[in-house]
Amino acid sequence: MKLWGGRFEKGTDKLVDDFNSSIRFDCRMYRQDILGSIAHSNMLGKCGIISIEESTLIQNTLRDILKDIEDGKIEFEVDAEDIHMNVEKILISRIGDTGKKLHTGRSRNDQVALDIRMYLRDEITAISRMLIALKKNILKISEENTATILPGYTHLQRAQPITFAHHMMAYFEMFRRDYSRLSDCYSRMNMLPLGSGALAGTTYPLDRHMVAAELGFSDVTRNSLDAVSDRDFAIELASCLSILMMHVSRLSEEIILWSSHEFGFVELDDAYSTGSSIMPQKKNPDVAELARGKTGRVYGSLMTLLTVMKSLPLAYNKDMQEDKEAIFDAVDTVKMCLPVFSSMLATMKLRKANMYKAAQGGFTNATDIADYLVKKGIPFRSAHEIIGKMVLYCIDKNKAIDEMTMEEFKSFSDKIQEDVYTEISLEKCVSGRSLPGGPAAETVLKAVQEGREYLASLE
Ligand code: ARG
Repeated sequence: MKLWGGRFEKGTDKLVDDFNSSIRFDCRMYRQDILGSIAHSNMLGKCGIISIEESTLIQNTLRDILKDIEDGKIEFEVDAEDIHMNVEKILISRIGDTGKKLHTGRSRNDQVALDIRMYLRDEITAISRMLIALKKNILKISEENTATILPGYTHLQRAQPITFAHHMMAYFEMFRRDYSRLSDCYSRMNMLPLGSGALAGTTYPLDRHMVAAELGFSDVTRNSLDAVSDRDFAIELASCLSILMMHVSRLSEEIILWSSHEFGFVELDDAYSTGSSIMPQKKNPDVAELARGKTGRVYGSLMTLLTVMKSLPLAYNKDMQEDKEAIFDAVDTVKMCLPVFSSMLATMKLRKANMYKAAQGGFTNATDIADYLVKKGIPFRSAHEIIGKMVLYCIDKNKAIDEMTMEEFKSFSDKIQEDVYTEISLEKCVSGRSLPGGPAAETVLKAVQEGREYLASLE
């Protein structure tokens, strides 16, 4: 018999049982469900809604059930529909009528809203820790590479010389914002929905703040209809995770490019690459590719959640049971990606000579020669044109700008002097850009230092 079977004259069809049941995927919230029930029954006892003895018996039995689940001694039933009713059914089977008092002043609607919030809070904490580890690795790589020059790109065309440290610190900033987005998401999620009942609250004199404090919520939700019927916190999390994965996918893409023969900027460690079953020479960046691919999967979860929630009238609708698999999959995927991605980065070898060579080609110092002419009194737009012609000439002669003789330089502008050679060296191009946010070594080192202090503040 169902816990809600009173008004029914016959049982549900087996097909409906299977269709309705969410235990297959919501059983992972067993811990949160039980901790929530312990806090609820504790409060029921303290508020005199049930007796202290009853409350104590319920709490102790729930603790036993938790232990039994963790010890693998319990098999959940599909017929009992979801984790909430499975736990309640086990409780009742152990302590009879007293167990039937647990659900006083509560609905599965505020219960499930509680459980998901608690579950996702923990997952945000776990993902945030992984992000910190990733950011630490990035800082280390950056610190070691403030003099590793490579071309910076726009349109995937060589643009201006930068350093590998500067490039990696760009990702540090992205992951820092991802972290901060997750913290914001956590704080909006961190409101206790219990006490909202099915939709209209309850007449029992519950102490919502007591439960909130016991379960670590910063406040109680302010509207019972809203509390049981929105899943924006899950959508927000999926959106934070999508943005985070978008960043992971961009760095993955670069690593895939960099490790190609054509770039040859990095070599992945053997432990983080795979071979081909037919081509003996292959060493493939599968980890980066999978991380790139799994990004699509996380976006998919976001779209699922948005679409499930679209146009749902207030308050709870069963459609909302579909929130779980989507958000769980997004969370699982990110948790699977981050550690392996992070270790792949940390073990990656840099081929600095190839990076430098690439920066020497492609006229990456052209802007700096234009700026050189500006410093000698030529307006920027005219300087731009002169250097444009110079580049065309160099392409024709198949040489880099700094390989030109003084005579060749002079044929473009008599303002050019011997100092041009030092002024347009790659090193100078980088070191000259020392404004805050720029690639100069001392600027990047400062950013690394600041990054370390920021990470320390998170611990
Ligand atoms: N398993 C349900 C869910 O995940 C729990 C809430 C069900 N409430 C209800 N009135 N059917 O959404």
